[in-house]
Amino acid sequence: MRDNLVPFIEFRGAGKQYDGKYAVRELDFTIYQGEFFVLVGGSGSGKSTTLRMINALIEPTDGNVYLHGKRIKDYDIRQLRHQIGYVLQQIALFPTMTVAQNIALMPDILGWQKAERRARVNELLELVELSPEHYRDRYPHELSGGEQQRIGILRAIAAKPQVLLMDEPFSALDPLVRAVLQDQIAMIHKKLGTTIVFVTHDMQEALKLACRIGVMHNGKLVQIGAPEEIKNRPANDYVKSLFSTADTPNAAQLISQFHQMDPHEQAAVRQALLG
Ligand SMILES: Nc1ncnc2c1ncn2[C@@H]1O[C@H](COP(=O)(O)OP(=O)(O)OP(=O)(O)O)[C@@H](O)[C@H]1O
Ligand SMILES: [Mg+2]
Repeated sequence: MRDNLVPFIEFRGAGKQYDGKYAVRELDFTIYQGEFFVLVGGSGSGKSTTLRMINALIEPTDGNVYLHGKRIKDYDIRQLRHQIGYVLQQIALFPTMTVAQNIALMPDILGWQKAERRARVNELLELVELSPEHYRDRYPHELSGGEQQRIGILRAIAAKPQVLLMDEPFSALDPLVRAVLQDQIAMIHKKLGTTIVFVTHDMQEALKLACRIGVMHNGKLVQIGAPEEIKNRPANDYVKSLFSTADTPNAAQLISQFHQMDPHEQAAVRQALLG
C-alpha cells in the first residue's frame, strides 16, 4: 500500500469551535485510500469531532475537509452519506426489522434488486461467521450484544461504502468478544480494502489494527505514524503515557469474562481462537 498512496480524506487547517472555544484545531493530515487509520486519545481530546467532520455531522468552523479532492461541504449530503458507513459504540439496530432487513437497509434505499440484496446479506453474514440460515430472520432482541454489534458493522458496509467510520465500535463489549470483532474487522479490511477511520481510547486496539495511528490530545493531533513508530518514538510524554495505561486484561480476567458470556458468544470466541 505504501508504494501507491492515493490521498483520500484530507484535513486542511480544519478546526471546530463551540462558543469561541476549540474542540479541535489545526488539523492538517491525510488519510490514504485503503488505509486503516486509527485515532486515539483521552476523553474529550476531539476524536469524535474529527471523525464527524468526514460525514458532515459537524461542519468545521476553520479550514476544510476534503474527500476525493472535493470539499465535504460541496457534496450533496445524501450522496456523501451513501458513500460513508458509520458505526457507533451502541449500535441501534431497528428492533422491528430482522437481521436481513437491517443489513439490507442501505442497498434497499439505493434500489438494489431483491436477489442482489439477498445474496449480499448472505455473503456478509458468512464473512463474520454467522450462518445466514440461523441468523437472517432473527430480530435484534434475539441476538447477543456482540452479535448485534457485528450486524451493525455489516449494515454499515452492506452498500459497499468507500469509507467506514467507526467511533469506539467495540468499547462496550467485554475483552474476548472485542478481540474476536477486532480480528473480524481486520479481515474485512483486508478482504474489501475499504478505507477505515477508527476511533478508540484503547492503545492495544490501535496498535493491533492500524496502518497508521493519529494521537489526539487537547483538540490537537500531536503525533501521526505507523504503530511501531508511535510505540518506539513517542513524540512527547503524553504519547508515552498512553502505553503505560494501555488496557491489557490478564488471563484470569479473560477466563472469568468468558464464563459470563452466553453460549452464542462463547461459540464465536471458540471459533475465532480455534478456527
Ligand atoms: N456540541 C458541543 N458543544 C460544545 N462543546 C462540545 C460539543 N461537542 C463536543 N464538545 C467538546 O469538544 C471536545 C471534544 O469532544 P469529542 O466528543 O470530540 O471528544 P472525544 O475525544 O470523542 O471524547 P470521548 O473519548 O469521551 O468520546 C470536548 O471538550 C467536548 O466537551
Ligand atoms: Mg468520542
